[in-house]
Amino acid sequence: MAKVQWDDVQAIVLRGYGDLPHSAYLLWRFNTESGLAKRQWLATLAERLMRASAGGDDEPGAAHAGRGTTRSAINLALTATGLQQLGVGEPTLNSFSPEFLEGMAPLPSDETRAPRRSSILGDIGESSPQYWDWGGWHEQREIDGLLLLFATDEDSLRELVESETRKMAGVAQRIPLDLKGHFNPDFKEHFGFKDGISQPLIEGAPQRKRPRHRDEKQARISQVKPGEFVLGYPNERNERVGDRGAMNGNAPHAKRDIRLNGTYLVFRQLEQDVAAFDDFVSRLAAYLGKTKDWVAARLMGREPDGKPLIQDGTDAPEDCVRNDFLYHYEDRTGLACPIGAHVRRANPRDSLGSDPDTALRLSKMHRIIRRGRPYGKRWDPSGRAGDGEDRRGMLFIALNADIAGQFEMIQHTWINNPHFGGLYTGTDPISHFDDESPITIQRRPTNLHIRRKAPFVKVRGGAYFFLPGIQALRDMAASVPDETLLTASSRLSHVAA
Ligand code: HEM
Repeated sequence: MAKVQWDDVQAIVLRGYGDLPHSAYLLWRFNTESGLAKRQWLATLAERLMRASAGGDDEPGAAHAGRGTTRSAINLALTATGLQQLGVGEPTLNSFSPEFLEGMAPLPSDETRAPRRSSILGDIGESSPQYWDWGGWHEQREIDGLLLLFATDEDSLRELVESETRKMAGVAQRIPLDLKGHFNPDFKEHFGFKDGISQPLIEGAPQRKRPRHRDEKQARISQVKPGEFVLGYPNERNERVGDRGAMNGNAPHAKRDIRLNGTYLVFRQLEQDVAAFDDFVSRLAAYLGKTKDWVAARLMGREPDGKPLIQDGTDAPEDCVRNDFLYHYEDRTGLACPIGAHVRRANPRDSLGSDPDTALRLSKMHRIIRRGRPYGKRWDPSGRAGDGEDRRGMLFIALNADIAGQFEMIQHTWINNPHFGGLYTGTDPISHFDDESPITIQRRPTNLHIRRKAPFVKVRGGAYFFLPGIQALRDMAASVPDETLLTASSRLSHVAA
């Protein structure tokens, strides 16, 4: 098996930085005329980036006080225009995937109201890029880069943001857009569920500090080939994703493929309407004579504390949430965990098709590493939070080697699909952005189909990024041209061609 060069991969691939609960995401456009400044900035930044070989706690739930080894961390991702601004030329740029080059929210043409990509993602209605705060069709459309900053506490984060913003003087065109995310101490997202539990385990990745509950069974379910998440290595199809030529890690640096040891990063600002979710859950609970937690768990597919709805009569150790369950033999009909529940759609494990082993093998071709965090204050049911405190949600981040085959496939073919898993109606209660489809919950003697007034989540911004390897960034820094005088019209003209 090809060994991943973890010291060249950015740490966010292996770490959720659970020990660094405060984060900032700086989004910016490059100053087009600052070749020298960009070169110097990138060369020094590449040495400050946290590498995957650096260790530390790798998942939010593992963040027991004081176990982390660092007080802050930085990672860097670039859009296609960002790469172009760093002097990456057309032949190299064309080796990146079409969806990355096209971007998350291409502009509509005269004939189409929603471009194909927006339709695939379900970014329609109030989630249309027309209304996004950034990355969409109007406001702050062009984004070149994303700096991901993580720190132990708010003060350290503020210092880190100030220091990195200072270093970008002359490099970025204007004050970067600064989104703040944080883990709550209980690692619950705004709808009240513990998050960050189920992640793929990359085969051969450096060992975690903490053993998992029932390691062997988990490995069978969750272990995935490195090429699903790091470019240049074999994936679940035994191919190297995106490899249209030699991606030789041992080649002299000038000839190295800049995709090697990198991956794609999907960033979406998903606003959550917690009041609407709570109202829906309360009404349905009253109607069914169940508790609110019972209803909420049927929408998510896990209890609020993370406990799976598929039970095998055993309990995990106290500090560990079970993730070693399958669906085919345990709950084929969805009476325990509804077929359309969020976690079952987002990772159907062995449940799609007649053969569970084949189904599990196929679902491993469509996994994502999730690194999202909540933003905004927690919802106050008493309504006392006051003005300006009413926007909250998830800064959703997914890492994958193939945006179309992983993130987009999950969103389009599983989450947004009313016929998922043999259903005849219903889409994901949590992350489908359309209000037309009902939510389906299996029960005897007949299934429940419930309409909601509006989706609980709306897209507010987003972009596709590339998270390069460290050496690729050094190589880019060495070859940034003095002036990248690219006009808006020459930017990525080849994509439109
Ligand atoms: C605001 C929107 C969202 C919220 C509140 C949310 C929340 C959650 C929660 C609480 C879990 C269970 C905990 C865990 O397994 O880590 C989960 C799992 C998951 N979510 Fe989401 N999610 C959202 C959007 C999305 C989107 C847009 C996608 C993908 C397109 C996605 C993909 C997944 C996946 C793959 C899992 C793991 C399922 C498993 O392996 O069992 N989520 N989500």
